[in-house]
Amino acid sequence: MTNHTASNPPAPVRHHPMEIAPETWVIQATHGEGVAPQVVHMNSMVIRGAEPTVVDTGAPVHREHYLEDLFSLVEPEDVRWVFISHDDADHFGNAAAVMDACPNATLVATWFLCERLAVEGFPVPPTRWRWIADGESFDAGDRTLHAIRPPLYDSPTTRGLYDDKTGVYWASDCYATPVEGGTAFVGELDPQAWAAGFQAFQAWNSPWAAMLESDAFAVTCRRIEQLRPTTIATCHGPTIEATHVQQAFDLLRAVPHTPVPPQPGQPVLDEIVASIEAAMTGATA
Ligand SMILES: [Fe+2]
Ligand SMILES: [Fe+2]
Repeated sequence: MTNHTASNPPAPVRHHPMEIAPETWVIQATHGEGVAPQVVHMNSMVIRGAEPTVVDTGAPVHREHYLEDLFSLVEPEDVRWVFISHDDADHFGNAAAVMDACPNATLVATWFLCERLAVEGFPVPPTRWRWIADGESFDAGDRTLHAIRPPLYDSPTTRGLYDDKTGVYWASDCYATPVEGGTAFVGELDPQAWAAGFQAFQAWNSPWAAMLESDAFAVTCRRIEQLRPTTIATCHGPTIEATHVQQAFDLLRAVPHTPVPPQPGQPVLDEIVASIEAAMTGATA
């Protein structure tokens, strides 16, 4: 029997793509499943419209499954757009591989995003870029896709993506929550666990939220609320279906004035190290 520890993680648990709206799929992945009590989704999305659009590209650690799932939904030659919400590895981490596999795709980024990716040696040339900043849109054939920054984020380059045909909003890091195990929709969660996880994720990922004045933040939140999205998909949590969108809006507006739970500290690391050492001792005994 294998002891799974932080230094010896199990293979990622396999989750399959989930259709959340017509021709709109969340490619699901999780981090920490089978190891930690709390699991974080590492999702991305595909819009299989007239001009198929990849929305974020998953984490490098999931590359094999990610590419398998993506190309089970769309042929590489058909991919027209690859939208990157921001320059964190769990969002752009497979973008180079996707662009390499998809000869007809254009990378949808911004000037600042490309500048920040350049220092990582990002290999996609400017001839394949298009810059779509917060508040700007692009035509994807049978729909217009709008780049709109979510109210909370962890990178200055962040833009979400709103599809005016389905009403789906891709929120990047926002509206997320950790889960006990891979979960497709928030309706499957215990409501209190959702609320607690939602607060922890938002506050930890955007600690500056504690500095926000609630009324001013509510104005920012309204920018997304006024879109009246039918569905909110997020990289780091289950998809928020229509029945739960209003509650997600309420939870988000409360973030600045809701207590922030503490993060695991050194005692937790001590436990992890002890478990690794115990497993190593057992392996050599
Ligand atoms: Fe991020
Ligand atoms: Fe992220």
